[in-house]
Amino acid sequence: MSKKWTLTLSALMTGMMLFALTGCGGSQADSKEIKVGANFEMTGGIATFGQSSVNGIKLAFKEINATGGVIGKQLTLVVADNKSEPSEATSAMTKLVAQDKVVAVLGAVASSNTLAGSQVAHDNKVPFITPTSTNPKVTVDDSGKVKEYAFRACFIDPFQGTVMANFAFKSLGAKTAAVYIDNSSDYAKGLAQFFEEAFVQNGGKIVAKEAYLQKDQDFKATLTKMKASNPDVIFVPGYYEEAGKIVKQARELGYTKPLLGGDGWDSPKLVEIAGPEALNNGFFSNHYSPEDKDPRVVKFVESYKKEYNQVPDALAALGYDAALMLADAIKRANSTESGKIKDALAQIQNLQVVSGNITLNDYHDPVKSAIVIEMKEGKQTFKEKVNP
Ligand code: PHE
Repeated sequence: MSKKWTLTLSALMTGMMLFALTGCGGSQADSKEIKVGANFEMTGGIATFGQSSVNGIKLAFKEINATGGVIGKQLTLVVADNKSEPSEATSAMTKLVAQDKVVAVLGAVASSNTLAGSQVAHDNKVPFITPTSTNPKVTVDDSGKVKEYAFRACFIDPFQGTVMANFAFKSLGAKTAAVYIDNSSDYAKGLAQFFEEAFVQNGGKIVAKEAYLQKDQDFKATLTKMKASNPDVIFVPGYYEEAGKIVKQARELGYTKPLLGGDGWDSPKLVEIAGPEALNNGFFSNHYSPEDKDPRVVKFVESYKKEYNQVPDALAALGYDAALMLADAIKRANSTESGKIKDALAQIQNLQVVSGNITLNDYHDPVKSAIVIEMKEGKQTFKEKVNP
């Protein structure tokens, strides 16, 4: 081939490539960076959740970028604050996909917020991974079909509810339970239902069932009523702000038996609000323990402490893990096209992360173990690990 021909050919090919690149809008194929969205609770009622999650993600991105990034590109994070509110989570998602043109989104934390944003992701064909939303409906629609663009890094509430019901019945010897539900949260409503079903199946009895709303302050009237039914345990599937107040007020009313919760209790604020003493004889299920001696956990806790001068909670660990899932998918897709990333995400298999090994099932859920935490003098201590 003559030199002139080669030159013309390469000019032609460059032109074709440019055309192809500009043709697949939002894929960022021509960019040296990969823009990822973060839809999180940075302010509002559950702000410690969003802040920890973003810290975990940023640490993962930093480590990945330091070793050359993914498919030769650097990962960058665009954070949108959903203010701990579902309507704001929808706006945040819209901004990330329409304005920032991110290739994928990480978030949100609360199931209600993730559910609110998920339709936007679906309509725009942008995949998202929630690190921590445990309600089954986050990845499955009302007809039972998996949502193509929705993924998660955590176990789901039918498992978590069963873990706590079995723990109450078998480990604590409880025969009766009361349930105090945050009615403004899809997470709490679902978790309450799964706990009840499993507790009754064990042979236990639910002797009281009451509800509250986020931002409520005074729980004493309801707690007095609940206490009168003399439950062996009270299960409080809510978030730390209200759960902390409930624990405090229950102890003030003289309820000394075990108080139980789910992952929504995991915040340094819980101890600030309830007080260390009130939390004694308190237990909750969680995704990971910083006390775990697994080398991957040890290494993560070390780097996180170095970066933030703080012990990472489960939100931080799962944020980190969700970031690893995304990087793994982009690498296998060998592309920044949202559609290809989505396909690669669905095929995640045996990915080793801090909170365990991730293989996604047909519903885009990993199957992972849970940990029961016992609160002792304000400290989270490892009580038991429950495998699926
Ligand atoms: N699982 C909770 C939800 O779905 C969120 C959460 C996870 C909160 C982990 C704290 C720790 O709403």
